[in-house]
Amino acid sequence: MSGLVSNILDFARGRLGPGITLEYKKDARLADILSQVVSELHTVYPDSIIETNFELNHFVECDGNRIAQLVSNLLSNAIAYGREHTPIIVHATSDEQSFILSVENYGNEIPAATVRQIFQPFYRGNDHSGKKGLGLGLYISAEIAKAHGGNLSVTSSNETTFFTLQIPVEKPVSK
Ligand SMILES: Nc1ncnc2c1ncn2[C@@H]1O[C@H](COP(=O)(O)OP(=O)(O)OP(=O)(O)O)[C@@H](O)[C@H]1O
Ligand SMILES: [Mg+2]
Repeated sequence: MSGLVSNILDFARGRLGPGITLEYKKDARLADILSQVVSELHTVYPDSIIETNFELNHFVECDGNRIAQLVSNLLSNAIAYGREHTPIIVHATSDEQSFILSVENYGNEIPAATVRQIFQPFYRGNDHSGKKGLGLGLYISAEIAKAHGGNLSVTSSNETTFFTLQIPVEKPVSK
């Protein structure tokens, strides 16, 4: 519920105000932050199987709370729309250049027509199996990625779907 409310507030701020604003930290404790989000989602959805694969070898300058919000959106999607009883995997790496995080789930391929619109506000695909949502999670997540000078993308095959965040490890000079 608090995730839903923050998504609505962020959408309103984006339309009426300055958009997503970040509170950068020099060396965000991303392994801890990501593990905390995984454990929160697992508490809410005890049947979910969430695995982690972290290779965080470099500091990452970012807004840890915003990254947590993004991962929470991606994980709740993987739980809602992925194939039941299959693992969801959170991969995260950092090197001198980039922090790359992807959430992988098993499931049906997301059709190309859906992929084209999936990051638009209020867009929802066709198959929700009774799941309720506003269609804001991915839009806000993509805005969080952009605010960090990075991007959020999707690749989907008939076996697995990956949503991947890529951001530079250092705050862009313009921010
Ligand atoms: N991992 C996924 N596998 C398959 N389809 C997905 C996945 N993630 C998102 N989608 C599709 O993309 C649509 C948009 O996702 P988004 O997170 O923006 O909105 P939502 O989940 O419908 O609602 P909200 O996140 O606002 O509660 C979803 O309705 C769903 O159809
Ligand atoms: Mg969602």
